[in-house]
Amino acid sequence: MAKSTGLRPDFLWGVSTSAYQIEGAAAEDGRGASIWDTHCRIKGRVYNGDTGDVACDHYHRYGEDIALMKDIGVAAYRFSVSWPRVLPRGRGQANAKGLDFYDRVIDTCLEAGIQPWLCLYHWDLPQALDDLGGWPNRDVAGWFADYATLIARRYGDRVKHFATFNEPNVSTLFGYAMNWCAPACVDRVAYLRAAHHLNLSHGAAIDVLRDMVPGASLGVVHNRQIVHPEKDTDDDRRAAAVLDAHWNGIFPDPQILGHYPALIADELEPFMQAGDLARICRPMDWFGLNHYGPIWAKADETTQMKFAWGNGPQDAPHPELGWTIYPDAFKDELLLLTKRYKMPIYVTENGCNVGEDKPDANGEVIDRPRISYFKAYISAMIEAVKQGADVRGYFVWSLLDNFEWGSGYGNRFGLIYVDFENGQKRIPKQSSKWYADLIRTGVMG
Ligand code: FCB
Repeated sequence: MAKSTGLRPDFLWGVSTSAYQIEGAAAEDGRGASIWDTHCRIKGRVYNGDTGDVACDHYHRYGEDIALMKDIGVAAYRFSVSWPRVLPRGRGQANAKGLDFYDRVIDTCLEAGIQPWLCLYHWDLPQALDDLGGWPNRDVAGWFADYATLIARRYGDRVKHFATFNEPNVSTLFGYAMNWCAPACVDRVAYLRAAHHLNLSHGAAIDVLRDMVPGASLGVVHNRQIVHPEKDTDDDRRAAAVLDAHWNGIFPDPQILGHYPALIADELEPFMQAGDLARICRPMDWFGLNHYGPIWAKADETTQMKFAWGNGPQDAPHPELGWTIYPDAFKDELLLLTKRYKMPIYVTENGCNVGEDKPDANGEVIDRPRISYFKAYISAMIEAVKQGADVRGYFVWSLLDNFEWGSGYGNRFGLIYVDFENGQKRIPKQSSKWYADLIRTGVMG
């Protein structure tokens, strides 16, 4: 039965994307290469040898895409700026054409009545900076602060919501210790250095944005997922606790509480200098939560981290090809966050990949499993709010089917179907109509 969400009247409904996943135009208008351009070219790294060279061609189709967002009725759009598009070598000379592109995106959003939420970093480090050592090089904090200065100066008159980072746990743990993301190293020390320097970069960027953008609302986006041991053994329980500290704590704890999780603090010690924790822990306005489902850990002495991803129970519910569906874990995570960090929360990503998404004989994409997923997760969020979680907004991942990192174009998370093979045609899926109704009526159909 249809039911009112009962959420606060100013609850913000939005959609999220990221630069490398949608923009394409990888070699156009002076954009420099990022570590993902490099990563995609290494055989076997990305499903099917896919790349973000063209992606959704959003660089040229942003107008159509923002019009589609307006049709859905979202109040906010979270996107990221491609650092190498605006600073092709990561620092030094800015690229005027790259900067102009985000002017167009921002202005078109504002004309459509959509708040732009700008994320500085969604995994696409300029390759030129990786060549200088990348995140494991402490100098990165200065480079990032300069990049933040450029962005604040250029867009701060119109953009009032900024996130420093998207899911730094994924980009560092998978990028430096586990070989799943760019730059695909397997080096525990490089990972720990990268994590600490990324934290320093976060603090530096918050200071820049706070100084330069009057009235800015500042946050950071973290992926947090409850970690379970695969088996009920001492080894797996220990692996789950350690993975939890790395996955859920290594960034938010120092950024918000001013210390690293006790279980792993010693590991970070060699890379710290006096005053670092104060540099990292800067006042923020909101916590961005990306959440999909719980994860399982198992002990694995053969890996650098001594843990590995485990399997969930055989009967764990999941859509075809998709991750497990556990709305209760979402509710629990929201309550846990509220208790631990005591900050307003925006759900900055939630959504699901439905393997079978494709147009039917009538040219429509009827993605019922995605609608069921949203109903279950949004209901869980509403329940968390009833129990005291301070959730102010929810952004669907994602507006468009896009380049899903290691899964290439094999995974479709969009509210809008993109026909990558035939002229990039956009088809709003049934879930986008469902989301539009929810936003318009405040009632969950
Ligand atoms: C998140 C990423 C996002 C997208 C979704 C499915 O981890 O932030 O870019 O890949 O997962």
